[in-house]
Amino acid sequence: MQIPAKFCRFPNILPKPLFSTYTGFISAEIALFSPHKTDRFILVKRGKLCWCKMEDLFQADNHEASAIIQNEKAIQPEHDALGPLLRENELKEIADTLRPLLSHNQSEYLFIHGPAGSGKQTSMRYVLGQLSKETSKVIPVYVNCWEYPTKMGVYSRIIETLQIPIPRRGLATDEVFARIREHLDRDGLSILLVLDKVNSLILRGEEDIFYTIARANENGRTRFGVVSISIDSQVLERLSDQVRTLLHFTTLEFKEYSLEQLVEILKDRASKALSSGSCPTPVLEACAKIGKANNGNARLALDILWKAARKAQNRGHKRITPEDVEEVSSKTDYARTLAEDCFTDFNMKGMALSGDEKLALRIIAKKGEVASSDFYNEFMAVKTISKRQIRNYLGLLDAKGLITVRSASKGGLLKGKIIQLLCRR
Ligand SMILES: Nc1ncnc2c1ncn2[C@@H]1O[C@H](COP(=O)(O)OP(=O)(O)OP(=O)(O)O)[C@@H](O)[C@H]1O
Ligand SMILES: [Mg+2]
Repeated sequence: MQIPAKFCRFPNILPKPLFSTYTGFISAEIALFSPHKTDRFILVKRGKLCWCKMEDLFQADNHEASAIIQNEKAIQPEHDALGPLLRENELKEIADTLRPLLSHNQSEYLFIHGPAGSGKQTSMRYVLGQLSKETSKVIPVYVNCWEYPTKMGVYSRIIETLQIPIPRRGLATDEVFARIREHLDRDGLSILLVLDKVNSLILRGEEDIFYTIARANENGRTRFGVVSISIDSQVLERLSDQVRTLLHFTTLEFKEYSLEQLVEILKDRASKALSSGSCPTPVLEACAKIGKANNGNARLALDILWKAARKAQNRGHKRITPEDVEEVSSKTDYARTLAEDCFTDFNMKGMALSGDEKLALRIIAKKGEVASSDFYNEFMAVKTISKRQIRNYLGLLDAKGLITVRSASKGGLLKGKIIQLLCRR
């Protein structure tokens, strides 16, 4: 095996014949030479040599951990247990809107929208936590509609939370809802239903759940508070007039974070997660800039900071540098996929996009919106594919809340459609 130039000094240490039988190379810092048919290997790490057993591999790595990262959880982008910073006004507005539920009265139907990573979920979870401290009579039910994109799916989450027994033979959707109401009426409970990523539900044509809930609120003793959350500020326009006029959603916008706000969020997390002095201001600013360029996405900014911290730590450094940030940013999938056109976090966790979906997004992202005829032409110039298949992809992207498709003319006299990207700079 060819030993990488970086490790050429090791032949002096390792017996030459041994070398030739060894294979494997992990990264610039770590080289792994393992003889065939044995569970032992030689680990060359930052110039140090050691014999290890295969199962020691991760131990060897952990050995020197914690130089920079003191509390890994606190820097991870999905960590929202600490509650949101800088969202006091939004928190107060949500609490004010939902307050009537505390006295078993009807609350307004709330619709929260704002770009990805703007703290919608973090804020909502915080409010739910506070509400639970205040009362045991309002039961919070949080539903991610990507995971549960149907009326029955949402009811199943409520059933699970309330631990209502359901007969083995199953029940029809209406019967399930009736059971839920019976249970709530019997115990004098209300539900605060949070429908996150509500686009998935609406785009599936499951909007009558709103109608059913609003009617139940009008007719019964049961109280359902409903908070719908989406990155798409326009998604309510897809609801029928009947539903919209019945619910009259109150809207609350989560504006995208400024650069300074992102720095503040990162600084706070770094102070909780990283060793003192390991994360200088230019590093925070570099990460915040990436977040800012992606609609003020705090999740992305944190993701980059976390990876940069890991990178610096694995190299045995005591501090993160802007170069670490640059390096991990260039290796993070969001940048590779759509960098030329626009920055989005479409490829961050939970958004497994196929190659064709990415191609479709790239075409739409060039101008932000595109006439369907132009879109088909461009797509078919790159790929041999039927219009029907392309329509399927559009449907999927629509359901994921990444694009929206509307008629080119309001009155619908002209046939064409306009496809619009929902999340862009
Ligand atoms: N104001 C904030 N204070 C502290 N951390 C924040 C704040 N806003 C966002 N974050 C961090 O960013 C991550 C993403 O935020 P969150 O999940 O609330 O975004 P979102 O608006 O729901 O985004 P999406 O629309 O993509 O679901 C959180 O897990 C949290 O770590
Ligand atoms: Mg969210």
